[in-house]
Amino acid sequence: MGEVFILSDRPSGASVAAKMIDQVYPSEVHPLAMTSVDDLADVPAVIFSLGNFGPVEIRQVRALCEEVEICRKSIFAIRSRSERARAMQAEAFGFKRIVFLDDGSPAVQDAVSAIFEEDYKAALEKAAPLAGDTFFACSKALLAIGSELRQLKPVRISRALPGAGKVSHAVSIEGVGQMVKAASLHHDPTCRHSIAVAGYAAALGQALDLAEEDLRLLAMTGLLHDIGKMLIPVSLQEKAGRLDHGEVARIREHPELGAKILRMQGGVEPVVVQAVRSHHEYLDGSGYPFGLKGERISPLSRMVTIADTFAALTERRAYRPAKSPAEAIAIMAGMAGSKIDAGLLAAFRPIVLDTAFARRHPLPKSPGRPVLKEGIHPLRPEEGNSRWTVA
Ligand SMILES: [Fe+2]
Ligand SMILES: [Fe+2]
Repeated sequence: MGEVFILSDRPSGASVAAKMIDQVYPSEVHPLAMTSVDDLADVPAVIFSLGNFGPVEIRQVRALCEEVEICRKSIFAIRSRSERARAMQAEAFGFKRIVFLDDGSPAVQDAVSAIFEEDYKAALEKAAPLAGDTFFACSKALLAIGSELRQLKPVRISRALPGAGKVSHAVSIEGVGQMVKAASLHHDPTCRHSIAVAGYAAALGQALDLAEEDLRLLAMTGLLHDIGKMLIPVSLQEKAGRLDHGEVARIREHPELGAKILRMQGGVEPVVVQAVRSHHEYLDGSGYPFGLKGERISPLSRMVTIADTFAALTERRAYRPAKSPAEAIAIMAGMAGSKIDAGLLAAFRPIVLDTAFARRHPLPKSPGRPVLKEGIHPLRPEEGNSRWTVA
């Protein structure tokens, strides 16, 4: 189901708004004449995008907007700022959010994000406070980074630092379960997934008693690992049907694209850039984009791959239902050794299967020195640096 319903009196008129939203949130276009109050009950956000605004449309809009909750989560889209009379008319109907399509996609996306932000606040009020606070810090950073990327503006990656800095604390005090539960509220699939991956990656680092610096690297890489996907329309990422060759190739560009973005903006540790680039590589060389093998894949990257694979399998996709944690771990056990690091997977397993462990994993009192930045495997520090390279 789409996260945003676009109500239109003619499909062609709604396609402009749909295209603008489609970069961030899944959307569906529905004919205004066929839509009732009941149809909108469970819809997170609604955009009224109407070509005509004659007596028939006015009657229908009025009927829908009489419901306070529908009015709250609705946006009235107007083609141009020159149409002042229509804006006044929308205000008179009670619309609090009016956007002008000629202001461009960011204005429309921001208006939708503002509605979702209200939902998050309401839902997280009672939730674990640290997970909620971390969710907002991460969400704010990722949405801003995504918006800057799509507008081809310089991206301030440093925005992600405060959120990444909060992840491991929230996970250690309230448990990774709360972090992932908060992440699942997000309506942007990349934000939802990235916040969860950051939580799982930090939890894996905690299970291995890693130093705080390593936990920060894990959370930061988790948050940024799919940044390249922010330039791929959600409609393609979430496509229900089979992807053609070109579409698969486009999606598979995201690790290299993400690394390129991070390199261009600067200020991100090389080991993070490398892990973003290689989070879909497998130990046996069967991954992408470069088919890197074994030692060429850093321990940080291997850890994020485990967090990423587990998060992806347990998330619902348009083309398949979510797997249970046990099913996901069983699938990953079949990949252990050949594709993913068996020792790291063994450390990850209790985090997601042992509920007592998942609830809270206290930080070690005297963790060792940081290892991940130097490419040292946390389970085999005596072996020294792995041969990962930053290209
Ligand atoms: Fe990815
Ligand atoms: Fe991912």
